[in-house]
Amino acid sequence: MSPAGFRISQVASVFLAVFAALSVQAAELELPDSLALQSGQRVTSARGWQEERRPEILELFRANVYGRAPIGRPGDLKFDATETTPDAMDGMATRKQVKISFSGPGGQGAIHLILFVPNGAHKPAPCTLLICNRPPTNIDPTRAVKSPFWPAEQIVARGYSAATFYIADVAPDVSGAWTKGVHAMFDPPQRAADAWGTVAAWAWGASRCMDYLVSDPDIDARRVVVVGHSRGGKTALWAGAEDERFAMVVSNDSGCTGAAVARGKTGERVADINRVFPHWFCKNYKRFNDREAELPIDQHMLAALIAPRLLYIASASLDRGADPSHEFLAAVQATPVYRLLGLSGLTVTEMPAPEFPLHDGSIGYHIHTGKHDLTEYDWKCFMDFADRHLVTRPKSAP
Ligand code: GCU
Repeated sequence: MSPAGFRISQVASVFLAVFAALSVQAAELELPDSLALQSGQRVTSARGWQEERRPEILELFRANVYGRAPIGRPGDLKFDATETTPDAMDGMATRKQVKISFSGPGGQGAIHLILFVPNGAHKPAPCTLLICNRPPTNIDPTRAVKSPFWPAEQIVARGYSAATFYIADVAPDVSGAWTKGVHAMFDPPQRAADAWGTVAAWAWGASRCMDYLVSDPDIDARRVVVVGHSRGGKTALWAGAEDERFAMVVSNDSGCTGAAVARGKTGERVADINRVFPHWFCKNYKRFNDREAELPIDQHMLAALIAPRLLYIASASLDRGADPSHEFLAAVQATPVYRLLGLSGLTVTEMPAPEFPLHDGSIGYHIHTGKHDLTEYDWKCFMDFADRHLVTRPKSAP
């Protein structure tokens, strides 16, 4: 078989496997009910969701999965514009670099935000904030190196500001590095079983970037989209759950403990992720190794925490580890919460073929052909969806 033929049949077989997996009904998986309070009562109104069930679910995720951030916005948070270049990208954008600094009992730190604001566009401009989990060459502010992981020129050309930060500014991606980054600054000497893991720390960093963005008059703070890929996608979802200022959340290939429903998931499972990346989540999460059915939540409920805001979940056809069918399932299973709030959620329940994005409802979804990656095609889809639902919304919308 030709290499191309092999690739096509490989893609087709993975897609069939995905499709077969989807036939496993959510009911068979016995997913916890997003709308049933721990008391057993069900919430039946938007108010019941917002005031009772949502806080309960958020708390369950803090206690059992991502851990609890010891601090919100530090009192001494400071923004220093280290650079402003009005004619970046051949005059297309203004580049700003901002040092976001803070301190805690254990020391001080800073996040270096890179931001391109489109020059031609109507101001304030909507903004995408990428949580960058890949080497900083992927977010080169000089644009000497251009990466499809962050196609800043295309983002700006579509009228969006392009902002990003590198996760290691917040906390290193290293197991047991509690003496570094924000953990060293803010954690008490004894780490509790529900102390924040590194994913929650990165999400906290995204919120500090948001603190800056709301202060910048060039940015439309009511239209900020937080975007993350893989571990960055897990982080984007948690950032959106914890911080309701993000108007849209994009999870690309976030898989295990991201968008993918854990019960019945194939590929990477809770025990795997806790073994290989023990620092990402809180200690309590280890209790659910090989015991997903005992989790008081599942990842469709993390997706539901984004409601009534816009949610976008994206998958890649060859991403067996992440399990696209279970990423899609989270979008389907978050929909009842959107519906309770008078929104459409996802408008279909069947997984689309690759390159057939679902953009009709307030939850968007697509699967791209190929491997685990964040590509220009993915970005195009996110912006198509945002053009349709975020940018055209009335000013008073949430
Ligand atoms: C590993 C990990 C995944 C994660 C991915 C990434 O593959 O097992 O859970 O999403 O790294 O961040 O690229």
